[in-house]
Amino acid sequence: MDRQSAPAPTGARCPMHDAAFAADPDQIYDRLRAHGPAGPVELAPGIDATLVVGHETALRVLQNTTLFARDSRHWKALNEGHIPLDHPVLPMMAYRPNCLFTDGAVHLRLRKAVTDSLARLNITRIRRDVEPIADYLIDQFSERGRADLLNDYAKLLPLLLFNKLFGCPAGIGDTLTSAMSAIFDGKDALRANEELTACLMELIALKRRQPGDDVTSWLIQHPAGLTDEELKDQLVMLMGAGVEPERNLIGNALLLLLSPDTSGRDSGLLIGEAIDHVLWNQTPIANYATHYPVQDVDLGGVVAEAGTPVVISFAAANTDPALDEARRRHSKGAHLAWGAGPHACPAKDPAQVIAVTAIEKLLNALPDLMLAVPEKDLQWRPGPFHRALVALPVAFSPAPATHIASALQSRTVPAAGEQPLPTAPVAAARQEPARKKGFWSTFLDIFRV
Ligand code: HEM
Repeated sequence: MDRQSAPAPTGARCPMHDAAFAADPDQIYDRLRAHGPAGPVELAPGIDATLVVGHETALRVLQNTTLFARDSRHWKALNEGHIPLDHPVLPMMAYRPNCLFTDGAVHLRLRKAVTDSLARLNITRIRRDVEPIADYLIDQFSERGRADLLNDYAKLLPLLLFNKLFGCPAGIGDTLTSAMSAIFDGKDALRANEELTACLMELIALKRRQPGDDVTSWLIQHPAGLTDEELKDQLVMLMGAGVEPERNLIGNALLLLLSPDTSGRDSGLLIGEAIDHVLWNQTPIANYATHYPVQDVDLGGVVAEAGTPVVISFAAANTDPALDEARRRHSKGAHLAWGAGPHACPAKDPAQVIAVTAIEKLLNALPDLMLAVPEKDLQWRPGPFHRALVALPVAFSPAPATHIASALQSRTVPAAGEQPLPTAPVAAARQEPARKKGFWSTFLDIFRV
């Protein structure tokens, strides 16, 4: 149906979980706009919500902590047993005692511990941590001449980086990576969640005994005095809040840079500009920040009832026609890609440095990268919350796996007290992660960072 002429839904809820929404979310945002700044949606079968699509109304909700709670224990339908406890939407919406789902003083205490710890990550440190991981991952596919940049690169880089930022030793890092991947892919999520909890508790115990220069140790040392349970919940939240959007920031910006439509690379589009464009137009967290009104609230003509989910469409707010062009062009930060108000992303600076470094490394290593399929054939992952490609297949001139080779070579001279290393062929080192060991322990074996 023609986007302009689509009728406004009268009573009908717009579905945000089907293939049509994944293929063209703007169609739904436009339909809702015809209603006003907010409208009725279905996040998943049986999960009703109000979606805020107007920029001004979004800010109003995000900043009003008196009328709107983030604690999803206010969710009436869940409390009344209308939502099965194994509903797939619950991992993103059910209460957990972390920054995202708490209000007032409880939120302030947790958030301060998290923001103060993240603030200790400076740009130099982040670049230093990202670069060898990027080199390692590029070496995994550089000789093939083909790759899926989403699954071979953008997905793995933040996972491995979090191992480093959290100070994970080899075994814990392998479990963390595989458990988080399984949770994101929805594979045996219950078991993966148990593994994740166990390995984070092990990490916390280790860091209490042997503190390091890492986020886990900084959280432990924070004057807020978080308990082990609280530490575990904040670490899980940091991984969830960081890994998935980071992957999609990298993936969506790479698509823009490689797109023949925008001729991103030929037009001299800088990486930072591509990231800004993505934050405005394909923002990784498209719809989230679920609020629960504590009383019925009129959102520009649509009444959001007390205890029902009100979801902010960061994507629709950013493209709200009421946001004039001058503001879009001159106020770089007017977009809502990082949220706003007391729950705004505390990691927007590190998140951008990670993405820029990852993309820079890739484009420098493989300068003739190009999409391996027509852009129109790329698929977007269904789901109400993210804007995420399924895959990003690319082709390029094969290049030798130089970083693994030189890291291995530099280790043929053993350090004092170390066994000499058999000169392992690069090919074996490249295949090892997939077969025997985890990615993280293999990376640590080779690069010793
Ligand atoms: C290093 C990577 C990242 C980390 C560690 C991180 C961490 C966090 C944390 C802890 C929060 C919760 C704050 C609170 O409730 O007080 C948050 C919120 C948020 N983050 Fe990030 N983030 C990262 C990357 C990103 C990226 C790439 C995006 C998207 C461009 C993003 C967008 C957001 C948004 C929109 C919120 C607000 C969500 C809400 O209010 O429900 N973050 N982030």
